[in-house]
Amino acid sequence: MSGRTGKPGMSPEEKSALLASLRGSAAPPRRKSAAPARPGGEYAHLTDFTSLPNYQRLQMQHGVSEMLQVANPFFQAHDGCPADTSSMDGVELINFASYNYLGLNGHPEVVEAAAKAMALYGTSASASRVVGGDRPIHHELEAELADFYGAEDALVFVSGYSTNVATICELMGPKDLILHDALMHNSAIMGAEYSGAARRAFAHNDPDALEDILLQCRGDYQRVLILIEGLYSMDGDIPDLARFTQIKQRHDAWLMVDEAHGLGVLGRTGRGLAEHCGLDPTLVDIWMGTMSKTLAGCGGFIAGQGALIDLLKYNASGFVYSVGLAPPLAAASLAALRILLREPERVARLQENGALFLKLANEAGLDTGSSAGMAVVPVIVGDSMRAVKLVERLRMRGFCALPILYPAVPEKTARLRFFISSTHSPEQLAAAVAATAEELKALEEAGFGVSSALSAMS
Ligand SMILES: Cc1ncc(COP(=O)(O)O)c(C=O)c1O
Repeated sequence: MSGRTGKPGMSPEEKSALLASLRGSAAPPRRKSAAPARPGGEYAHLTDFTSLPNYQRLQMQHGVSEMLQVANPFFQAHDGCPADTSSMDGVELINFASYNYLGLNGHPEVVEAAAKAMALYGTSASASRVVGGDRPIHHELEAELADFYGAEDALVFVSGYSTNVATICELMGPKDLILHDALMHNSAIMGAEYSGAARRAFAHNDPDALEDILLQCRGDYQRVLILIEGLYSMDGDIPDLARFTQIKQRHDAWLMVDEAHGLGVLGRTGRGLAEHCGLDPTLVDIWMGTMSKTLAGCGGFIAGQGALIDLLKYNASGFVYSVGLAPPLAAASLAALRILLREPERVARLQENGALFLKLANEAGLDTGSSAGMAVVPVIVGDSMRAVKLVERLRMRGFCALPILYPAVPEKTARLRFFISSTHSPEQLAAAVAATAEELKALEEAGFGVSSALSAMS
């Protein structure tokens, strides 16, 4: 995406280099580095950041969007608190780009709780909790999160990302095996990589594929950890928890469920995947979740047996060597958790909204993949540039939804992702689906996309 509006366009040489690289016959064109030339020896060229392959790939993407004249949809500022609507550049848009699933971000009780905690404890925990000490608000939040999952104890970390990395690294090592869903979130995959354990993906949402791997090689490893999500963040579909718990029991493995998008969304009262599937939550060994979605804050948590939490508290590097969760954020998420439990009608409304959006989208012929129509509904467009252009056109019509592009998903499944909130009205949902279907049809009819750009260039 071009983030360089106002700068000169591509030169003919850059265009032909880009064409060659898109066809796979050459490296992407290199823009001149803005950095001054460095003195140095034999390896000086490797100190140039522009020599990094990922930088060059980024430049290629910028080049394609520049050619197709599509605006950069990323890092756009919202003027206030994003809810069902959000103001951007002073223009009010119907918003589908925030994880504010139950409308609790900006809720007066949540804001007040954060403000009170800030007045009492300040804005920061000021050190790792191990050495700098806890605040009572940490204990309250951990106790109520543990209770929420029927667990013995819980521990909160400063981010959901570091929760996954630190926990998986602490539990697993070189003699162990990690088996994860093919669409597992990057934070869990990076945790698996850093742990030094063997790592294998099984086909998305396919317990049989998981069991096949275990039947082949369970005996080659000591501990086995299975990683799944409660509600998949890219596709919005849900695993069959009963099957996964049976398999983990049969093969003496641990099961860890990432509930980043399941908490507050799944189950009659929002208690997540176990409630959705009608199962005892203690069948899952490790519940992981984030406070950055439904819980209107920031941070992550693990809920499970006391021994697990003790171990993480004293050993997990991302906890021990990182600052404690900021007290105002802990207070905000605790207030949000209490509202969620007190007002299950929010969860019911979210589920109705998700089901309505999915139904309307399917009736309009949009490809929503395997979405269950809860809080996450993708509209698969199949071409990155078409997805970005669709975002731009929707923005002009008063809607905010963001694209998901390669490498987050394969190019042929490039998409827009709609996050649904309990606060959306049926009219807002219907208007968004109608505009998306119309604009996508127009782009398809015009043949707008990467392949048509390639033919036009050749
Ligand atoms: C499934 C999943 N797990 C973990 C994370 C990381 O959480 P956080 O953004 O709170 O660090 C995300 C972030 O979106 C996610 O979608």
